[in-house]
Amino acid sequence: MSQNPYHDDRGNKDASITKRHGVGEIPTRKGGKSRPAPGGPFLIGDAMTGGYGKGPDILHDCTVSVDRGEIAVIVGPNGAGKSTAMKAVFGMLDVRSGSVRLDGEDITALSPQDRVAKGMGFVPQNNNIFTSLSVEENLEMGAFIRRDDISGTMEQVFDLFPILREKRRQAAGELSGGQRQQVAVGRALMTRPKVLMLDEPTAGVSPIVMDELFDRIIEVARTGIPILMVEQNARQALEIADKGYVLVQGQNAYTGTGKELLADPEVRKSFLGG
Ligand SMILES: Nc1ncnc2c1ncn2[C@@H]1O[C@H](COP(=O)(O)OP(=O)(O)O)[C@@H](O)[C@H]1O
Ligand SMILES: [Mg+2]
Repeated sequence: MSQNPYHDDRGNKDASITKRHGVGEIPTRKGGKSRPAPGGPFLIGDAMTGGYGKGPDILHDCTVSVDRGEIAVIVGPNGAGKSTAMKAVFGMLDVRSGSVRLDGEDITALSPQDRVAKGMGFVPQNNNIFTSLSVEENLEMGAFIRRDDISGTMEQVFDLFPILREKRRQAAGELSGGQRQQVAVGRALMTRPKVLMLDEPTAGVSPIVMDELFDRIIEVARTGIPILMVEQNARQALEIADKGYVLVQGQNAYTGTGKELLADPEVRKSFLGG
């Protein structure tokens, strides 16, 4: 087991479930080490300032990014602007200043749909599945931009989330909270994204289901898809994070590796319950 290059220190010891060639195109992570891209991070929302419509700015010079091979986690109090930052990176919010770059390309002016075409997958915090459609139909909808055969990708999603194969004909709205989140993540994977953004993927699930979802997220990262995610379970999320951001009132309050943030007395006291 210790010789397995896919075995890292994130607590998921089941190497048999990892796939050598997954949905992504980027080489698999090794030993938990990330590689900064030569031209800057793979995906970055850089110094973003902006808000909703004509309303006040919610984000103030806010920067979040994720590198190849990384899991980056955004934490912070309710209303801090975490979801707003994700929406800004995905193009659902006009940033008044700052930029968004994907693999070195400035995509600040692109629509969300064009960003999906460029390789971004996004699972929003709310309304992230079609409840009246079956699991399978949700996955098909996820692949809407593709014109090629999607059956192989669907099989990969079912391999990752076996319960979804079992429930493929069931209405997604009948599934448990954790299973719905699997549908949402699976739907985003159907476009074969180069980077995946998840807004609170473990919201409203039990601690056991949360652990399972984190294991699956780690697996997705191991297939070579960098992950930028917001989490309210800050401590557990930072434990699996290569990089973490603490946002407060739309600003970057603390940034570091997951380990650094977990060890920071100020971060512990204010955001991790001591
Ligand atoms: N659609 C919206 N229109 C106007 N204001 C919004 C909207 N969504 C969120 N906000 C405001 O933006 C701020 C940050 O919210 P949000 O990004 O959802 O925080 P978080 O995800 O960190 O809990 C809050 O003050 C919230 O009221
Ligand atoms: Mg939110």
